[in-house]
Amino acid sequence: MAITKEQLIEKLNLDLSHEYGAAVQYTYSAAAVSGLYRPALKPLFEEEITDELGHALYLAEKIKSLGGVPTTKVAEVPQPDQVKDILNEIVKAESDTIVRYKQRMEEAEELGLTELVIKLEDMIADETGHKEEMERILQDPHFK
Ligand SMILES: [Fe+2]
Ligand SMILES: [Fe+2]
Repeated sequence: MAITKEQLIEKLNLDLSHEYGAAVQYTYSAAAVSGLYRPALKPLFEEEITDELGHALYLAEKIKSLGGVPTTKVAEVPQPDQVKDILNEIVKAESDTIVRYKQRMEEAEELGLTELVIKLEDMIADETGHKEEMERILQDPHFK
């Protein structure tokens, strides 16, 4: 059965809460990262906050345009203290977001929301970039 606009709005609100969560996760990670990797990772994490808030701004506007009420709920974010765990949690969150956006693209397509489909594709590209960057850092022998 085809998705309704109301169901899509509900799912976009879940996505929005995870974008807020992503901004919180990078903020937490920038503050929590310690040791030799701190000078490299702190600015990297800080940069991602802007990207995630940009995604949140877009989704909130889109939800309102579709007739919904944008959520102010923030998704649950883990608080690991080891650098390796911080990076792994980010990879996991970015991977989950990519899966959600691929599904959302199909649903937006069903409803003929072409602009949303294209924007979701852009966001998948952003999240994939974030994920791959963290995976490459995790290739350091220190994290094996
Ligand atoms: Fe994002
Ligand atoms: Fe991201």
